[in-house]
Amino acid sequence: MAIRKIATIGHPVLRRVARDVPREELTSEAMQRFIDDLVETMRDANGAGLAAPQVYESVRIAAIEINKNPRYPYKPNYPLTVLVNPVVTPTTEETFMNYEGCLSVPNLRGEVRRFAGVRVRAWDRTGNDVDFEVKGLTAGTFQHELDHLDGKVFLDRVEDTRTLATWADFERFHMATFVERAKALVAKHGA
Ligand code: NI
Repeated sequence: MAIRKIATIGHPVLRRVARDVPREELTSEAMQRFIDDLVETMRDANGAGLAAPQVYESVRIAAIEINKNPRYPYKPNYPLTVLVNPVVTPTTEETFMNYEGCLSVPNLRGEVRRFAGVRVRAWDRTGNDVDFEVKGLTAGTFQHELDHLDGKVFLDRVEDTRTLATWADFERFHMATFVERAKALVAKHGA
């Protein structure tokens, strides 16, 4: 396994629509090694998730894992999940404002509107179908990661650029208010 370099905003790979991965390619040794690298890189960088384009591979694969995340201490834990060729659809019209950051957008956070629930259909890393729903902050994390596969970053969805903040200023001026909102969301959705 190896820790990969993370692409940052401005690199064209982050703006490309990533390609589907056929099953034969997914089960190849090279692709399985790549998925190990993706997970290792996510953990090394303390990401709540990481999408393949963020490590310069324009394929529809993303990993998500939240385990007492120091970048997002208010996020409920979520077990390691690798998604291949995922399709995400809202299960509700309810939305919430999520304060997001991204390993590919260093030292910036901003408020983004996300659906409060989504259905996720994908393959797991072995090519088996998975179909499940996620809610609340967790649903926000999934929408953020899957946006990367379509060449989108959270900045594209920031409705009010006055919410943009460095990480230090987020903690100083915005975190307390957001954490109150996040707690209410978690209480409502259990996630
Ligand atoms: Ni991101």
